[in-house]
Amino acid sequence: MKAKDYIITSADVKMPKIIYGTAWKKEHTTILVEAALRCGFRGIDTACQPKHYSETLVGEALLNMQHEGIKREDVFIQTKFTPVSGQDPKEIPYDPNASLTEQVRQSFTTSKQNLYTHYIDSLVLHSPYARFENLMEVWHTMESFVQKGELGQLGISNCYSLEVLEYLYDHSEIKPAILQNRFHAKTDYDKEMRLWCDAHHVIYQSFWSLTANPEILLSETLDAISHKYKKSPAQIWFAFLRENQIVPLVGTSSSQHMLEDLRSLDICLTSDELEQMQTLL
Ligand SMILES: NC(=O)c1ccc[n+]([C@@H]2O[C@H](COP(=O)([O-])OP(=O)(O)OC[C@H]3O[C@@H](n4cnc5c(N)ncnc54)[C@H](OP(=O)(O)O)[C@@H]3O)[C@@H](O)[C@H]2O)c1
Repeated sequence: MKAKDYIITSADVKMPKIIYGTAWKKEHTTILVEAALRCGFRGIDTACQPKHYSETLVGEALLNMQHEGIKREDVFIQTKFTPVSGQDPKEIPYDPNASLTEQVRQSFTTSKQNLYTHYIDSLVLHSPYARFENLMEVWHTMESFVQKGELGQLGISNCYSLEVLEYLYDHSEIKPAILQNRFHAKTDYDKEMRLWCDAHHVIYQSFWSLTANPEILLSETLDAISHKYKKSPAQIWFAFLRENQIVPLVGTSSSQHMLEDLRSLDICLTSDELEQMQTLL
C-alpha cells in the first residue's frame, strides 16, 4: 500500500483506507488472511469472539507472513471486545461472572496472545451496553491499555444512536477514533452519525457495504461509471466510500476480489460522478 492509502486517525494511528475482515472464515482464516496480506492488504479486522471469528488463526497467519517479510509493524491489527450478550455461551473467551473490568482485561490479554503481539493498533467495543454506567466501566478499562502503551486507539461498533455516541465522547478521557457500523438504507446510511463523526474526527468503518446494497450496485448510475473506468461496480462503490471518508471492511474469499478491492484505491471519481452517486443514498 502506498502512503496515500493510509489515514492518520485522531489517535495518531496509521490505518489503511480499506481493511480485510475475517468474520466467518472458520478453518480457512489462516489461508485467507495470508492471501489478503500477499495481495497487499495491510489492515486486518478480527474479534475475540469465537462464535464468528477465529482470532487464533488470524494470529497464525500474521506469524507465518513474518517469514515472507511482512513484519508485525507493517500491519494494522484491529480486534474487538465482545460483551457476554454477543458471545456463544459455550465458548466465552473470558470469565462471564467476573466484573466488566476483569472481562475486558481477560479478553484483551487473550487477543494479544492469539495475535502474537504485545501491541494492538485498534480495539473496538463490539456493541454498546444499555446502561451508561456499564459502557463507561468497559471504556475506561479499554483506555487503560492505551495509557499503558499496549493499544493505539479505541472504537465502538453497532452504535446507531447519536445520543450514545455523544455520551461516550463527552465522558471518555480517550475519545473514540472509530465507529464501525453496518452501512445500508435501513439506517439511512448513518447520515447523521457520519456528519457528527466527521466533525469530531471519528473515522467511520463500514460493513455490509456490498451485501446490503444490491440495488445501488445494480443501478444504472454505477453501471455507467463502471463502464467508463472499466472497473467493477464494487470497485466504483469502494472508491465512492473512500471519497466520503468511509473505510470499508471487506471479507471476500476470492483472491481476484481482494486485488480488485485494493485497486479501487487508485480510482479517482469526478465531482460530478460523486454527486450522482450521492443521490443513490
Ligand atoms: N462489527 C460487527 O458487528 C461486524 C459485523 C459484520 C461484519 N464485520 C466485519 O466486516 C467484515 C466484512 O463483512 P461483510 O458483512 O461486510 O461482508 P463480506 O464478508 O465482506 O462479504 C462480502 C460478500 O460480497 C461478495 N463480493 C462480491 N464481489 C466482491 C468484491 N469485489 N469484493 C468483496 N466482496 C465481494 C463476497 O463474495 P466472494 O467471497 O466470492 O468475493 C462476499 O460474499 C467482516 O469480515 C468483519 O470483519 C463486523
